[in-house]
Amino acid sequence: PAPGWAIDADVVVVGSGVAGLTAALRCAASGLSTVVVTKARLDDGSTRWAQGGIAAALGDGDTPEQHLDDTLVAGAGLCDEEAVRILVTEGPDAVRRLIATGAHFDTSEAGEIELTREGGHHRRRIAHAGGDATGAEISRALVEAVRDAGLRTIENALVLDLLMDAEGRTAGITLHVMGEGQHDGVGAVHAPTVVLATGGMGQVFSATTNPAVSTGDGVALALRAGAEVSDLEFVQFHPTVLFLGADSEGQQPLVSEAVRGEGAHLVDASGTRFMLGQHELAELAPRDIVAKGIMRRMQEQGAAHMYLDARHFGAQMWEQRFPTILAACRAHGIEPVSEPIPVAPAAHYASGGVRTDLRGRTTVPGLYACGEVACTGVHGANRLASNSLLEGLVFAERIAADIASRAPLPARAAAEPVSPSVLPLIAPETRADIQRIMSQGAGVLRSADSLAGAASALDAVHRNAVQDQEGSGKTVEPGVEAWETSNLLCVARVLTTAALEREETRGCHWREDRPERDDADWRRHLVVRLAPDRS
Ligand code: SIN
Repeated sequence: PAPGWAIDADVVVVGSGVAGLTAALRCAASGLSTVVVTKARLDDGSTRWAQGGIAAALGDGDTPEQHLDDTLVAGAGLCDEEAVRILVTEGPDAVRRLIATGAHFDTSEAGEIELTREGGHHRRRIAHAGGDATGAEISRALVEAVRDAGLRTIENALVLDLLMDAEGRTAGITLHVMGEGQHDGVGAVHAPTVVLATGGMGQVFSATTNPAVSTGDGVALALRAGAEVSDLEFVQFHPTVLFLGADSEGQQPLVSEAVRGEGAHLVDASGTRFMLGQHELAELAPRDIVAKGIMRRMQEQGAAHMYLDARHFGAQMWEQRFPTILAACRAHGIEPVSEPIPVAPAAHYASGGVRTDLRGRTTVPGLYACGEVACTGVHGANRLASNSLLEGLVFAERIAADIASRAPLPARAAAEPVSPSVLPLIAPETRADIQRIMSQGAGVLRSADSLAGAASALDAVHRNAVQDQEGSGKTVEPGVEAWETSNLLCVARVLTTAALEREETRGCHWREDRPERDDADWRRHLVVRLAPDRS
């Protein structure tokens, strides 16, 4: 649809999690006119749901080098070591700047930041806030800073497509705003620089820890704009998500790894600790190993879930250290103080995304990507726990510095969106089908057969939509739900194709038919770039 209104800026940041708001604050502080566009409210993204914390070598005796080692091991041979080195060396100061911005982390009586452990970390390295509400505190502090700085924000606005000039350079975005009054309906922000910080794509699966807004919009936009996307097959399944029933769909409550970091045990229905002997770190092995350990035990026993036993924490520790998780369990009739918590893996994090260099630049001039939507190379085949908030923080600062170094930014002639409409627009009713296809065929356990089945089912969804719209002239009402569903189908197809192509097991990509890691053939990335006008 043609934009009905337009505004101008130097920089438009799309997304309002830790990555987006940090980038926006730093750009504005450099004197750049900055607009933040976000799909729901400023604090509605994934950042708010982060529990465990933010990893950084802040503790006595810890070093960036040790953090680097743990990150590389978790990444299973596919991390970009230079990117990881940047993450771990710039991380501690970036956290200190976040504290200076107003985020309050939990501290000891002596005023030292308290640190916990999570999977894959050999040391206590995870700073947390409000016990298990770290993301909520970071989000609160950044939203407040954005409001204090008087940044222009447009909430309830779904980004549609990238605007480009005749030379293929970024010229802004189109967006659909719902109920904002002055800027309502489909409009445009003209800007020579766009920072994508739209978060993840967990909603591509039936059950996920991600909020409803995580529909892969940024990756889909980037694909339509002809940007390179990498590593989409590496979807991380969090091992311990509260099990609410096999049919439970949508966002599921997380039970943070920090619960295991503080000594909780994974047990089966008979109370046996099954992670002992599987890895030197047992329950605190990297996330993919724990998720596989749980799935294997579930398969062996024909069980729908395993249990996390933290009864020994006692009521006081539960209330003080994990109030969010305690409340979520109780809301579902589970009492962690007196009974083990039923848990199973669910989709959690996209380790891949829009490919960037070390300054956050994508392959489209003027388009940056940051946070979960990006593939900077720090996560490789499996993100290390609590490195995601840190990545958002560190690379947002690098992006802002890069943009500022290029100022004054040239105004660009407003151009047509690269893909004027998302064709075919996918009917919102199809969303649950796409999610089921993905969970069944491209979930935590995959095989050539399951992935081929998913790919052909997704192709059928696409084909039917084309036939409906081109053949029988049935139209889908353009609107946020239809655009989101189109984005979900777009990323689901690319993800499934990559997962089918990668004929090995590595990190969080688990192929039952190819159970071994194959460094000879597969120590490489799968990079996808679509022709810009492909739907
Ligand atoms: C958790 O608290 O277990 C989640 C941490 C993460 O995803 O990094």
